[in-house]
Amino acid sequence: MCSIMGRLDGKIIVLSAAAQGIGRAAAIAFASEGARVIATDINESKLKELQQYQGITTRVVDVTKREQIEALAKEIEKIDVLFNVAGFVHHGTVLDCEEKDWDFTMSLNVRSMYLMIKAFLPKMLAQKSGNIINMASVASSIKGVVNRCVYSTSKAAVIGLTKSVAADFIEQGIRCNCVCPGTVDTPSLRERIQARPDPEQALKDFLTRQRTGRMATVEEVAHLCVYLASDESAYMTGNEVILDGGWCL
Ligand SMILES: NC(=O)c1ccc[n+]([C@@H]2O[C@H](COP(=O)([O-])OP(=O)(O)OC[C@H]3O[C@@H](n4cnc5c(N)ncnc54)[C@H](O)[C@@H]3O)[C@@H](O)[C@H]2O)c1
Repeated sequence: MCSIMGRLDGKIIVLSAAAQGIGRAAAIAFASEGARVIATDINESKLKELQQYQGITTRVVDVTKREQIEALAKEIEKIDVLFNVAGFVHHGTVLDCEEKDWDFTMSLNVRSMYLMIKAFLPKMLAQKSGNIINMASVASSIKGVVNRCVYSTSKAAVIGLTKSVAADFIEQGIRCNCVCPGTVDTPSLRERIQARPDPEQALKDFLTRQRTGRMATVEEVAHLCVYLASDESAYMTGNEVILDGGWCL
């Protein structure tokens, strides 16, 4: 008798922002490769839809709230992979960015990852192994993008956080990488396009900035996340992995 092995068999993976978009696709891809996935988000009703997939359990967690993160970390005995996905896109230059926009973005996009890593890393250190993946973006220290001032600032910080964690804990069996997508077709991107004064033009702009002439699908990003979560990528740490349809060409 032969059994089919999953690329993530036996791994326990916690991720944020799993209710829709890239997080949802990653949760499904992880589970289909044999992982036990703890999918978290603040959107309880959308999160529940994931319960139909074998291997996924769901949990409402607001990643800006330390107490909620710590409560989850306390309940979980073992964690192999932490995937920090949650993030928000503010549209505008530095002059359009109010202090509240700055604080909200930095809190959701960066502080949340600091809180998650702080809560789950001690478990990984006790196990002498762990794998952290953070969601960054090409709009960061990699590429200057118009109207993405605080967003790019926050994602550049995510890259810095990733490299710092990778450097500090490499000798203790921990690795940490980040994913830097270009434009990905997700519900929030579609909402952002609709919110522009000329949505048709906004869509055109998003499409033409990708040299492929199309956006990435969430599944294409999820494939990369499976690779990063698996032992296939065991030699990678401290890397920002770009998947941008030629945007940086
Ligand atoms: N879509 C893109 O083009 C693109 C490109 C590069 C990077 N990214 C990054 O990928 C990540 C996911 O983006 P997306 O477009 O797939 O997702 P999305 O914006 O469609 O969904 C985000 C999810 O985060 C959840 N969320 C919001 N606030 C939360 C909080 N406080 N705690 C927990 N969950 C919360 C929402 O409920 C939602 O389910 C983000 O970090 C984003 O910056 C996206």
